Amino acid sequence: MTLIIGGSGQVGTALRRLLPEAVCPSHDELDLRDLGRLRRRVIALAPSAVINCAAYTAVDRAEDDEEAATAVNGTAVGELTAAAAHLGIPLVTYSTDYVFAGEGDEVCTESTRPDPRNAYGRSKLVGEQLAMEYAGALVVRTSWLLSTTHPNFVTTILGKVATGPLAVVDDQWGRPTMVDDLADATLDAVRAGMTGLLHLAGEPTTTWFGLARESCRLSGIDPQLVTACSTAELARPAQRPRHAVLGSERRPPLPDWRIGLERWLTTAGRSPHGDHPAVDQD
Ligand SMILES: NC(=O)c1ccc[n+]([C@@H]2O[C@H](COP(=O)([O-])OP(=O)(O)OC[C@H]3O[C@@H](n4cnc5c(N)ncnc54)[C@H](OP(=O)(O)O)[C@@H]3O)[C@@H](O)[C@H]2O)c1
Repeated sequence: MTLIIGGSGQVGTALRRLLPEAVCPSHDELDLRDLGRLRRRVIALAPSAVINCAAYTAVDRAEDDEEAATAVNGTAVGELTAAAAHLGIPLVTYSTDYVFAGEGDEVCTESTRPDPRNAYGRSKLVGEQLAMEYAGALVVRTSWLLSTTHPNFVTTILGKVATGPLAVVDDQWGRPTMVDDLADATLDAVRAGMTGLLHLAGEPTTTWFGLARESCRLSGIDPQLVTACSTAELARPAQRPRHAVLGSERRPPLPDWRIGLERWLTTAGRSPHGDHPAVDQD
């Protein structure tokens, strides 16, 4: 039995579709903040694999709440790792492009040295390092997730341009990733027995501005309604990497995100997700 933690989130939902027999306790049923009991509780469930999709993902809030972010993204991952090691089973946990400084123009691969510049990135790096102490762990770094099931950057943009022009940052580069592609590739990696660090992100590279314009174009909305602005103009609490572009030395990139986006926006119909407060979602 596979145990999926964080099964209600974007990635968790995509994985549950592929693994309908998986056990997926809710946040309340298995809270990663319950550090004193977490390891014991996972061991008692006796899964054959653990996939951790749960995380403290509020990037700006983490700046004032690093301890809480580190408990969930760091210490709890260590407890899950200890449980998996005790059982001798595979552990998958997700991490982020935000573990990189992203100051240069090069692609960040599995051998690029992490150097996070915000509290969220630091908390995720703690989790990575604890997981990597176990030879059966796979740490999947991904970026700019888009799903058809949850509010995300694209639903925010389309909601906002419906009311008028919108400025979006054009100086942060990254690789959007459709969660269904990520879930497929994660399970392929597990089946192939991959462990260690693995970067899974779509292609090509773009900016949030580029992604916003492409989303408008595919939705039949005038892309010119989206204008470019700089990160400095937004003055967000957490520093974002300028160029945290994930590439892999271990496998080809995930499919072109524009294909999944087009399928979603032109054929599947867009579900009326709620608004998102920021236009450079992480
Ligand atoms: N979203 C992105 O663009 C992005 C980019 C790079 C990396 N990642 C990484 O990818 C992974 C999945 O992200 P996602 O976008 O799918 O996240 P998400 O949609 O925000 O889902 C997070 C999940 O974690 C659960 N959760 C939060 N705190 C918890 C706790 N203390 N105990 C138990 N469960 C808890 C949530 O449950 P409730 O909803 O019930 O609270 C939810 O199921 C994370 O590791 C994230 O850091 C995401």
